[in-house]
Amino acid sequence: MCPFPPEIVPDWCSVLPPADTLAPDWLALPADANDLAAGVWPASASRDDDGTLVLAGIRSTDLVATYGTPLLVIDEQEVRARANFLRSAFDAAAAAHGTAARVYYAGKAFLCTAVARWVVEEGLAVDVCTRGELEVALAAGVAPSSIGFHGNNKSVSELERAVEVGVGTIIVDSAIEIERLAAITARTGAVQQVLVRVISGVHAETHEFLATAHEDQKFGFPLGEAAEAVARIREVPGLEFRGLHCHIGSQIFGVAGFRESASRVLELHAALLGDGPVPQLNLGGGFGIAYTSADDPTPIDELATGIVAAVADGCAARGIPVPSLSFEPGRAVIGTAGVTLYEVGTTKDVTVRSGATRRYVSVDGGMSDNARAALYGAEYSARLASRTGDGDAVLSRVVGKHCESGDVVVDHEYLPSDIAPGDLLAVPATGAYCAPLASNYNHVPRPPVVAVRDGRAAVIVRGESVDDLLSRDAGVDA
Ligand code: LLP
Repeated sequence: MCPFPPEIVPDWCSVLPPADTLAPDWLALPADANDLAAGVWPASASRDDDGTLVLAGIRSTDLVATYGTPLLVIDEQEVRARANFLRSAFDAAAAAHGTAARVYYAGKAFLCTAVARWVVEEGLAVDVCTRGELEVALAAGVAPSSIGFHGNNKSVSELERAVEVGVGTIIVDSAIEIERLAAITARTGAVQQVLVRVISGVHAETHEFLATAHEDQKFGFPLGEAAEAVARIREVPGLEFRGLHCHIGSQIFGVAGFRESASRVLELHAALLGDGPVPQLNLGGGFGIAYTSADDPTPIDELATGIVAAVADGCAARGIPVPSLSFEPGRAVIGTAGVTLYEVGTTKDVTVRSGATRRYVSVDGGMSDNARAALYGAEYSARLASRTGDGDAVLSRVVGKHCESGDVVVDHEYLPSDIAPGDLLAVPATGAYCAPLASNYNHVPRPPVVAVRDGRAAVIVRGESVDDLLSRDAGVDA
């Protein structure tokens, strides 16, 4: 692909995409299409002497020999280290301003009992947003007082269950929910701590924040209407108002959106102090991770320092005490810990009218185990796992086996040209929002999830079989 003979290849040639390419601007032609980019893979990822990808001391080929493909591998130490780092970063940032911080793991990113136990052991609380997620946390033995319960449409029975088990905080999302909780607590005599979710008008998209009126969405109360909700909560004997909650979005790379949002929410927080205590402030999650080597998220400790300083400055400016703070990262805890292993089934070179080519690499999963490219246009990266490749790097698109052209796993990646059927392919950073969004589209069973640590592997979520799927079909004879 490089236009120069090997002896005179200029340095810049290895980083510039070839002319007439279908590659996007952000994708650099790698000097080595087998390298494992730092920050995208779990820290334990390496290659054995024969080139095989190794995760937490286990060869990917051994994992696949035992569990098959597709396979979602979660590196336990990576989850623990990231959970621990987040907790200590926010602890330190809060302590520097004379307050405390609590970090909830946002279970929607990926929840099973094993993961809930790991994060709790690392000092995190757990945030759930449905009865199902609540039951997983309870089954894992998470103390109910360490659970936050979210959701814009919590049913009466979900709220009854949450109050009955003694969930620490319910994040109230609507006026109707306040009345549901008033009735439940009146009936049971319970006193439930609540936060009120507000929309700050700051909506963070990937990498950027847009300080626009993004009020046109389903979550929470507009800032202008939240005081009324808080006043109502303060009238209800069974409800204890603890503070405001605001989550501005997901996969956010910088501090600016959080700073702007905190400043807007603190205005209301300060006003509410006029009528009673407001001991807490929850600023949600959304801290971004690297999916490709082009991604450069702000390190968590810098984010923590910047966000907490913004809150402290806002409080100082208003002459109010700094509340105790909570955060709810999901992706930043588990995203980088996940690697999906697939087997390559077919490859196909496609030339478009401009003459540019792209290789389609089909794997034995797809949008049923990772819907993020199809849903959000999310970018991923990929590497050969069962060996290193020898050929030139060719622009490739990793696609699944579903009957849909949007069934893309990795939209743009350079892979070695000798990639062939039977090779194992690894897609990193699939720990968050892949298994939770998985489907059985085209009657494809959902893959197992295996945790790896110190050379050992264990299934933490069993995979499905075609028989499992048939067993739900009421027309199939027993
Ligand atoms: N707190 C609240 C209230 C949330 O709604 C969310 C995510 C989080 C915390 C955690 O956000 P995180 O730290 O994981 O970014 N399915 C999408 C992401 C949806 C996020 C929904 N809410 C994706 O795959 O990118």
